[in-house]
Amino acid sequence: MNNQNSKQQIGLFGFGVVGESLHHVITNSHASNAEVVKICIRDPHKKRSLPAEMFCTDRDEIIQDNEINLVVELIDDAEQALEIVKSAMLAGKSVVSGNKKMLATHMEELMDLQQLSGSALLYDASACGSIPVIRNLEEYYDNDLLLSITGILNGSSNYILSRMYSKNIDFAQALNQACEMGFAEADPSLDVEGHDALYKIIILTMHGFGTRVNQDEIFCSGISHIGPADIRFARERGYRIKLVAQAQKVHNNSVALFVMPKLVTREEYIYNVEDEYNGVVIEGEFYEKQFMFGKGAGGFPTGSSVLSDITARTHNYRYEYKKRKYFTPPAHTNDILLEVYYRYRFTEDLLLLDFEEITEHHSTRDYFYVIGQIRLGKLLQVKDKFDAMKVFLAFIRILKD
Ligand code: HSE
Repeated sequence: MNNQNSKQQIGLFGFGVVGESLHHVITNSHASNAEVVKICIRDPHKKRSLPAEMFCTDRDEIIQDNEINLVVELIDDAEQALEIVKSAMLAGKSVVSGNKKMLATHMEELMDLQQLSGSALLYDASACGSIPVIRNLEEYYDNDLLLSITGILNGSSNYILSRMYSKNIDFAQALNQACEMGFAEADPSLDVEGHDALYKIIILTMHGFGTRVNQDEIFCSGISHIGPADIRFARERGYRIKLVAQAQKVHNNSVALFVMPKLVTREEYIYNVEDEYNGVVIEGEFYEKQFMFGKGAGGFPTGSSVLSDITARTHNYRYEYKKRKYFTPPAHTNDILLEVYYRYRFTEDLLLLDFEEITEHHSTRDYFYVIGQIRLGKLLQVKDKFDAMKVFLAFIRILKD
């Protein structure tokens, strides 16, 4: 079914913002050797922009259609997506997917299935929308010089933070706008609590370092409790606040991962990444830093990235997972020391976090904040309690210890 240079006869799952945009991008890409022949949707009563005969609700109409040689999966639900992707691959069809949660959660199974079935699975659109970061990590950074991947990987939260900072609108208003613009997930808490960025950094770490890390081993905190005091603090000190995901090589051959808001200085490349844009800084042993920038959310940027994977399949491209095949992946660690800003309301909120040192303490009638040093592993230990508290944490830098 995966004929080299043959026309891609596509069975598409999902016709939401990205699915519909992909159809538009393919139709308007003159040199594209691809055609969407069938679209599987959940709701047959919804008004669609294409003729009714293009649509079906039974997934087997695509999976069992021998004329369809490529499945493109663009639905929200990760478990349903997994079923679709698995059955398509076992039926000998290659798959392009944008489902970061499915990929981050079931990566091992999906890697094994690629080997077993011979079908390819491509997913550059799953991380950073239009920025070709996965294929670059796989192909250009195909050596062991990589030191870190640091990025703004979620367009919605970046849009919210930019609007709060520069237009002085509040969190709820900015979140509404991000939803209206089609940047946010169907469940926007995935964006603002950092889970979307977490899935993406797990995928990037697989391709950048070869290390497979489970979600529950990674500290992740979001921006839903950010308040005017935090914005004011950032402004006064010359910072911008960005939700950052980072994979950092440390201690000879380990890699630490986390997702957290960061107080970003003017000198950092990501300082000027605003609105729904994403930015990824790649740091390596002999080349210092490189920066990739582009639209990370929205139908057309993501649709363009999906088209790039579709085109890659016409050249029979597949991921080799080179960092696992040719190198020993670094072990995962949470043993790093961070300098953080922590704003809270009650004195007992401070006791939850086991700071090694506090260098600055500020009290007002309504809130407190400290700047101090804390181990990432200690943050992970209290993550469940932390999530339930109305406090805000942002890291400033990783400290050498
Ligand atoms: N909700 C995601 C974001 C879409 O805002 O980045 C792109 O993955």
